[in-house]
Amino acid sequence: MADITLISGSTLGSAEYVAEHLAQKLEEAGFSTQTLHGPTLAELPASGIWLVVSSTHGAGDLPDNLQPLFDELAQQRPDLSDVRYGAIGIGSREYDTFCGAIDKLDTLLSELGAAHLGETLKINVLDHEIPEDPAEIWLGSWQKLLN
Ligand SMILES: Cc1cc2nc3c(=O)[nH]c(=O)nc-3n(C[C@H](O)[C@H](O)[C@H](O)COP(=O)(O)O)c2cc1C
Repeated sequence: MADITLISGSTLGSAEYVAEHLAQKLEEAGFSTQTLHGPTLAELPASGIWLVVSSTHGAGDLPDNLQPLFDELAQQRPDLSDVRYGAIGIGSREYDTFCGAIDKLDTLLSELGAAHLGETLKINVLDHEIPEDPAEIWLGSWQKLLN
């Protein structure tokens, strides 16, 4: 099992690129990683560290590729008490439902017993043309919590 499983939810690729960038940085820091774009529940390890990166679409909705995982988690309600996770949302402040998807995921993962590591990073794409930049800065602090 990899040290860290990165899970991305994306429509046009921004969150996917951020997840891949962070995976590369984590590998450089000596962690092993696997990156899954829109995985099913069966593909995820039931223990260890997850790093969830999701954009928001519709009106505070999850991207289409991550909604099935959310639905599986909500319906099957697995015990995630052996999971610790970090969370990054990507969205636009133009919307009242800024980063609504990562908030929904955070609430659900916590309900299922997973421990939230650090603070959720919410990236406003209006401020950050390159979302990898704030994500990389956040990662620097977040990875210190892993030891
Ligand atoms: C149709 C549409 C709806 C959106 N709805 C929201 C929203 O409700 N909240 C939010 O924070 N951002 C919203 N966004 C902004 C996207 O999250 C943002 O453009 C993000 O960079 C997309 O990343 P992705 O390519 O990984 O999907 C929306 C964008 C579009 C095109």
